[in-house]
Amino acid sequence: MDLFQYRNNELFCEEVSIEQIVRDVGTPCYVYSASTLVNHYKRIADAFAELDPLICYSIKSCSNLHICKLLASAGAGFDVVSGGELYRGIQAGGDPAKMVYAGVGKTDAEINQALDAGLGWFNIESVPELENLQKITAQRKIVSRAALRINPDIDPKTHRYTATGKKHSKFGVAIERAEEIVKKYAKHDYLRMTGLHLHIGSPINSTEPFIEAIEKVLRLIDGLRKDGFEIDTLDIGGGFGADYTKDQSPVSTTYAAAMVPLLKNSGLKIIMEPGRSIAANSGILVTQVLFEKDSEEKSFAIVDAGMNDLIRPALYEAFHFIWPTKIAQGMLPPVRSERPDLPNLKKYDVVGPICESGDCFAHDRYLPRVNRGELMAIFTAGAYGFSMSSQYNSRPRAAEVLVQGNLTRLIRRRETYQDLIQAEVFE
Ligand SMILES: Cc1ncc(COP(=O)(O)O)c(C=O)c1O
Repeated sequence: MDLFQYRNNELFCEEVSIEQIVRDVGTPCYVYSASTLVNHYKRIADAFAELDPLICYSIKSCSNLHICKLLASAGAGFDVVSGGELYRGIQAGGDPAKMVYAGVGKTDAEINQALDAGLGWFNIESVPELENLQKITAQRKIVSRAALRINPDIDPKTHRYTATGKKHSKFGVAIERAEEIVKKYAKHDYLRMTGLHLHIGSPINSTEPFIEAIEKVLRLIDGLRKDGFEIDTLDIGGGFGADYTKDQSPVSTTYAAAMVPLLKNSGLKIIMEPGRSIAANSGILVTQVLFEKDSEEKSFAIVDAGMNDLIRPALYEAFHFIWPTKIAQGMLPPVRSERPDLPNLKKYDVVGPICESGDCFAHDRYLPRVNRGELMAIFTAGAYGFSMSSQYNSRPRAAEVLVQGNLTRLIRRRETYQDLIQAEVFE
């Protein structure tokens, strides 16, 4: 699952103790395991090898340049959703031809930036966007490629904020309209729309929604091909799960066993866009206990990380396992759960210092009694952790550290108060 393991009652990332990292960079800080990142990428590549897919790591999940670089060196392309992510991907050494660009609101400036860079694929989310892209490619006389994002109306059985392939969603075009759109727009001198794209949500902890979506879109492709339209590429998106608790998500080989047989004789170039399944278990957020506060109703463990550092619990009521980085003998939790089966645990709300009641990492969580100054690890925080962080409450963003074996590298310094105001000061 990951390389964050307790040794002699102390949490390590690969070969380095978390306490050692905190001595150097302070808290809160994100710590990532390079080997876990690369292993997760390779597992997906190996499991799907029969399809020889282009694996475009989804930059939004964890966008640090050094992490993107690591994955680009392992062979990944990138899934981007803004000009900023495209810029990041290129700065990380990514090949624009191995990048796909989704998003319902691409601006003309972003489209021009992508055309200048030689982007691999635009993933088109609507007819007005398609018409605009056709217009710009024709004006500039630049040949480019596009895949029409299909909304197959499938329930991925995840949080409503991260379900993206149901009828009411803002993403893609309804599958019922896709044929008419391809037929009307496929023939164009500059925009080759020979691909289809799916991304139905995240995290999807079963294979059924993927099977259903792929089967639906393959039927659509079949029909289009019979009518003489060329469809050579299918981007199946991201959405594989991660282990926030133990064995919560199918492993790559399970996803592949369900999906590869559907796709292997399709004659399609397959693109994948995994993010969470690569990054989530590869990172933790380390925070320090500031106070233990007991009220009549509840006990609070007040920590120095806040919802500005990790917003997933506040935004999606997401579960993250939390545990001290140094533990007493026998207090290693057998599984990452809300209430590990261990003695003398106390029930806490684990909260941050931000002026919002939603600034809570865990409600009614059973932990060993907390002590001021103690370090806690918030696990499975590598995806949609730092990349969704903010400076809310004028809190400088956390440091990020990448560990590989026994080597530790600061890959983003902790922000300063100067960083908080520098874009606002004009002299
Ligand atoms: C278009 C697209 N592709 C890929 C992803 C990555 O999804 P995940 O991190 O669940 O793999 C997302 C996430 O929102 C997305 O919107």
